[in-house]
Amino acid sequence: MCGIVGYVGNKNAQNFLVSGLKRLEYRGYDSAGVVTLDQEGNATLIRAKGKIANLESCMAKKKRDDVIGIGHTRWATHGEPSEANAHPHKAGSIYLVHNGIIENYKELKSQLKNHDFKSDTDTEVLAALIESFYQDGKHPLVNAVVQALKLVKGTYGIAVVSEKNPEEIVVARSGSPLVVGIGKDETLIASDASALIGHTKRAIYLKDGEVAKVSKDSIEVKTLNAEPVSAKVEEIETNLAAIQKGGYDHFLLKEIMEQPESLAETLRGRVDTKNNLVHLGGPGLSEAELRKIKHLIVVGCGTAHYAGTLASYYIEQFTPEITIETVVASEYRYRQAYIPKDSVALIVSQSGETADTLACLREIKKQGAKTIGIVNAIGSTIAREVDGGTYVHVGPEIAVASTKAFTSQVIAMVMFGITIAQAKGVKNTILRSYIEEIAKLPDEISKLLNSDIPNAVKTMTQKYAKYEHGIYLGRDVAYPTAMEGALKMKEISYLDANAYAFGELKHGPLALVDDRFFEVVLLPKGALYEKAISNVQEVLARGGHVIVITNEEHFDLPVDDIVKITTDLEIFAPIIMNVISQLFAYNMAVAKGNNVDQPRNLAKSVTVE
Ligand code: M6R
Repeated sequence: MCGIVGYVGNKNAQNFLVSGLKRLEYRGYDSAGVVTLDQEGNATLIRAKGKIANLESCMAKKKRDDVIGIGHTRWATHGEPSEANAHPHKAGSIYLVHNGIIENYKELKSQLKNHDFKSDTDTEVLAALIESFYQDGKHPLVNAVVQALKLVKGTYGIAVVSEKNPEEIVVARSGSPLVVGIGKDETLIASDASALIGHTKRAIYLKDGEVAKVSKDSIEVKTLNAEPVSAKVEEIETNLAAIQKGGYDHFLLKEIMEQPESLAETLRGRVDTKNNLVHLGGPGLSEAELRKIKHLIVVGCGTAHYAGTLASYYIEQFTPEITIETVVASEYRYRQAYIPKDSVALIVSQSGETADTLACLREIKKQGAKTIGIVNAIGSTIAREVDGGTYVHVGPEIAVASTKAFTSQVIAMVMFGITIAQAKGVKNTILRSYIEEIAKLPDEISKLLNSDIPNAVKTMTQKYAKYEHGIYLGRDVAYPTAMEGALKMKEISYLDANAYAFGELKHGPLALVDDRFFEVVLLPKGALYEKAISNVQEVLARGGHVIVITNEEHFDLPVDDIVKITTDLEIFAPIIMNVISQLFAYNMAVAKGNNVDQPRNLAKSVTVE
């Protein structure tokens, strides 16, 4: 949520800033800005409402060859998206870009009588506060930043420059990521390493409570208490191809199509089909610790929550002595929930930076339960703070709507469940079918993506684009899959789509069925198939417009559309069905002319509450 970039070196700063912001645009895109300084400290501030393309048009009229600057792409929290509220914010000689929220900004603002506030943002208050300690510029900027940050309550990742010292940038973090890239005679700043790819492979990931003073050839990291930190230099693993569209019209379609490979990465080295075993090194729990687990808490937001819910339906099928609770992080963090002894929490997050999920992780750790991350972004805050974890390794997910991460999160969690079951002595004959199907899943997804079905879904979508509402329905494992399908649809097509457990339909939602609605029914073969068929008939009897996605070849009810999947899978057929839901939502968003990768009002990584 929001993106920060910074540059100090010998090259054109504007060029790096704008290209970096484009890479971070998926994190927030309602306004953007950059400031650069020339050798005398004269600043060129350019800000624009809307996308980076608008900022670029403004920049075309103010081209500079300055070699230091900072930039920001915003997802509004305080104050509407506008040029005045866009970052960088100026106070005296300093300019500040900020991710996060300053919670006590009102109180601080009331004390800053000498600053004429021009925006509605909490960030301008922090800029003014830093300026109040800096003023004459006789003391180092870093000291003023530290003094100000000591008064701040909230979260921040910041970058600051001053007209009085056009050779250095000060950065700091608490709860919002910041990476310092080390180049040859240049130092690059970003809130997400993807902005640094192609410029350097070496980076320092600041930790909470750290502040750094950087110039083109030096980086000094300290704590807010002025203790020097010998920061670890790490390698950035992602490559350029992973953050490009690679010939697809949208990142979302690329990421849907990538699922066979991304899931294969999740499984690499972890599934042993010869011996029917799963090996996960990351969680770091001994056999004895795994055996002791009695309760699993699965924490996440949005798609990560649905992935957790679906995984828990699976895990409880083969780990009889465990209770599993899946919780929405934004709720759980404020509940007075009792965490039973011998609990382990799975902390699920693609970005590894989601504020609510992170807050739960910290709370759960305080209460003494072990935490295991199911994370994609390597080196992210959650990945660093959990006791152990399993990276899903799907590579960068750029589209705001999560697709490939969902598939891999579900399977990574099921594999963790199998690891527990193995330790608890659950019979290999019970686990074998799960392991065999997991191993086949990448090929089965590939089979689907290379069949006629994606085109058929595209054609079918044209018919449904005129509807105003969608209802997604499923039973058992198809129910969380339906929830994820509905989220995808509403998020990118802006269609009002909601999911219900099929059995709940006649307890209320059935009243909705009319010509404004279509109903997507996920109908896997299995124990509850016949019951779900009766539910479909109830909808049809009331004039519903039903689309059925099924792997049952004999399905023959007179529904509006049928998507029949041919797959060897039985247990994990819902994962394949979800790929169809992803394609349906994608085509719907395209048909409606929406911004598929950056849907309105949203941002990729939700680093504020
Ligand atoms: O990065 P995280 O997995 O923690 O993100 C959680 C949600 O914000 C995320 O899944 C969101 O719901 C997606 N936009 C859904 O497609």
